Amino acid sequence: MSRLIVVSNRVNPPTGKGDESVGGLAMALAAALREYSGLWFGWSGKTTPEFTGQLAMQRIDGVTVATVDLEEADYDEYYNGYANKTLWPLFHYRADLTAYDRAYGEGYERVNCRFAETLRPLIEPDDMVWIHDYHLIPLARELRKLGVENRIGFFLHIPWPAHQLFTTLPGHRPLVEALFDYDLVGFQTAEFQQAFEEYVISEADGEHVGPHCLKAFGRTLHVGSYPIGMDASDFGKMMKSARAARMRDLMTAATVFRQLIVGVDRLDYSKGLEERFLGFERLLIDNPDLRREVLMLQIAPPSREGVEAYQEIRARLDALSGRINGEFSDIDWAPFRYVNKNYRRDELAGIYCASKVGLVTPLRDGMNLVCKEYVAAQNPEDPGVLVLSRFAGAARQMKEALLVNPNSPEEIAEALKQALAMDKSERIRRWRALFENVQREDVTAWRDAFVADLAGTAEKLKALA
Ligand code: UDP
Ligand code: G6P
Repeated sequence: MSRLIVVSNRVNPPTGKGDESVGGLAMALAAALREYSGLWFGWSGKTTPEFTGQLAMQRIDGVTVATVDLEEADYDEYYNGYANKTLWPLFHYRADLTAYDRAYGEGYERVNCRFAETLRPLIEPDDMVWIHDYHLIPLARELRKLGVENRIGFFLHIPWPAHQLFTTLPGHRPLVEALFDYDLVGFQTAEFQQAFEEYVISEADGEHVGPHCLKAFGRTLHVGSYPIGMDASDFGKMMKSARAARMRDLMTAATVFRQLIVGVDRLDYSKGLEERFLGFERLLIDNPDLRREVLMLQIAPPSREGVEAYQEIRARLDALSGRINGEFSDIDWAPFRYVNKNYRRDELAGIYCASKVGLVTPLRDGMNLVCKEYVAAQNPEDPGVLVLSRFAGAARQMKEALLVNPNSPEEIAEALKQALAMDKSERIRRWRALFENVQREDVTAWRDAFVADLAGTAEKLKALA
């Protein structure tokens, strides 16, 4: 079997201490690599005044983890800059927050070049290379320049924006051209794949030359959609842990005679937290009888704090959460707990289990794993209800959730009311269908489908010739 080399900006091997950083990508890759004695390469999370290219190698859980430090200017221009001030907001439909700065683009190219040079000596002839997410789109092009002929795949964890929006990006064409240095490019959903294909056909004179096969820029590329799943078997073990039981008991005791609504998200403007808080406020305004009956817990660990838009959303959420509690609390009761702290996934499993409603309302999300984890943590005899945004990639698979438009606090309030009143037989019926999907389309299925398609790309090309 070929060795699998996984490359991502964020590298997050499980240490067993629960100190891993937050985010769906790193959770999924740790799980995806488990059965491969593979290599995981990326940024160490540290910066140095000058780039040294020094590799740090560790062996964790059967996986070799190789990381490299970045220079301080790289952190500003590549990570905070092009990745998180340009591509992230644009791909999440926030053109108003998208910054265009040549220095960011140069930093992005420079780091991709540095990653390629550092990774190159680690690649052996039979390896398959799988590159992840928007930070590293040009990496295959840089590796090809260094003579790498291995099969290289790319998976985008975030949305691919609609054609009209994407063309507002200065330098949109070279970015897409760089994707044609891969053998296979994967998206979370068929819609994102279609948006990409539409761009290639209308802006780059591309054409379909076979099923899931595009020709443009003189090259042929395979494309596909591969919805990412959660690590269902690992999460099943976490649910049985003492930590999960402790958290569940703690939250159950804190909500005697009340129903708990839970939200868990990185503190990111794409997660729709403002609208969600307003939706909860609307529920309390419209339903005075519910006021002492509910408690909302929002866990939101800070993320990308070097980017102004993240500092601004944090300040707005602080004010809004304070306002809601100030408005509705009594001396012996407060409706809202807003916590800027990162919890371990075994602890989250217990919190989800004690909650009557899982409230997951991103304005845009490539997939969203929290909604899947919420479903997996429910008690089959008395499950809670998932309220989910239509604009999460997961909504395509999770049609039995209460789907809402996350821009509308009124719609969120109505869905919360419906969820809180839902009878047990309906909750069980909806949950069973959701749970079946979460188990079937898990992270292993995602990895196996992508890797099998990447391995098969050469044969498919021969068949087309
Ligand atoms: N997460 C965590 N601790 C927290 C908050 C979130 O471990 O305090 C995890 C969560 O369990 C999930 C991931 O971070 O596995 C978030 O992934 P998702 O796809 O929902 O969103 P992303 O952060 O990747 O945009
Ligand atoms: C999302 C992105 C990932 C990223 C994660 C956490 O899931 O798709 O690429 O790793 O957020 O963000 P961070 O900037 O902390 O790596």
